[in-house]
Amino acid sequence: MEKTIGERIVEAMPFLDRASDVIQPKVRNIVDAGGTTARNVLDGVWMEVPLHPVLTDVPIGSWTAALVFDGLDIVSGRPAMRNAADASLAVGVAGGFVAAAVGFSDWRYLSGGSRRMGMAHAVSNVVGLTLSTASLLLRATGHRNAGRVAFLTGYSLNGIGAHLGGELSYKYGLRVNRNAFEETGPDDYVPVLDEAELSGDEMRRIEVDGAGVLLSRSEKDGRVCAIAATCNHMGGPLERGDREGDTVVCPWHKSRFDLCSGKVASGPAVFPQSGYETRVREGRIEVKAVEENIQEKVR
Ligand code: FES
Repeated sequence: MEKTIGERIVEAMPFLDRASDVIQPKVRNIVDAGGTTARNVLDGVWMEVPLHPVLTDVPIGSWTAALVFDGLDIVSGRPAMRNAADASLAVGVAGGFVAAAVGFSDWRYLSGGSRRMGMAHAVSNVVGLTLSTASLLLRATGHRNAGRVAFLTGYSLNGIGAHLGGELSYKYGLRVNRNAFEETGPDDYVPVLDEAELSGDEMRRIEVDGAGVLLSRSEKDGRVCAIAATCNHMGGPLERGDREGDTVVCPWHKSRFDLCSGKVASGPAVFPQSGYETRVREGRIEVKAVEENIQEKVR
């Protein structure tokens, strides 16, 4: 198969795996040391979308504005344009450091080709950010033309980094809701299991109309609950996870979901699990997909 532009760039950086081997465990340790609250902030659980793509708007927008103001400064020579260029560049640098920190956090779970692509994305952006930071210093010390060249070079590298980030999301599916690509399940009630077969604290995976569904009983009131059995973060099998009260902990990266509503109790997943309605008729458990599942699927 033809290689993508991103894959050709990654091939030109043979050191990526070695660097990742050293850096990734350190990133994991740092993020884990922050505890669940810090992890949920970095993962974007509180926003219900991944945080890194949102934050990247700040440097991209500010640096593009700085580029325009630099051009207007050169053409007009007006101090206001010069000041606006410097201020925009500074805002972009500040936003770039925050976006980089959150981006490394997203990368901590990756492996194989996606880890390499993520590292290449990080290298391009970190070098670009360093050059923009150097540009600020050069401008502040009276070396404006050198500062402009450093910034332009950094901006170009950040453009390459943005392309690699796009491949990471759209080719490798990083931070994409995996439930969106699975079968929806039945749109009317279908019997799936004898009620007597589902014991109190059991989590049972069943397949219905091509959809994997995780059945359980609520500890609070004994009702039968059902959510998608595949973790929407990266596809972990929830039936092999640990049950904690009425939540399930994914065996792969420890996202925790409510077994009845599918809501995220803790990340890295940010999206709720697809949900199913349940009822018991003549001793049989029946399930059907909730309407929102059906409407939200990618087709
Ligand atoms: S696959 Fe990553 S938390 Fe479930």
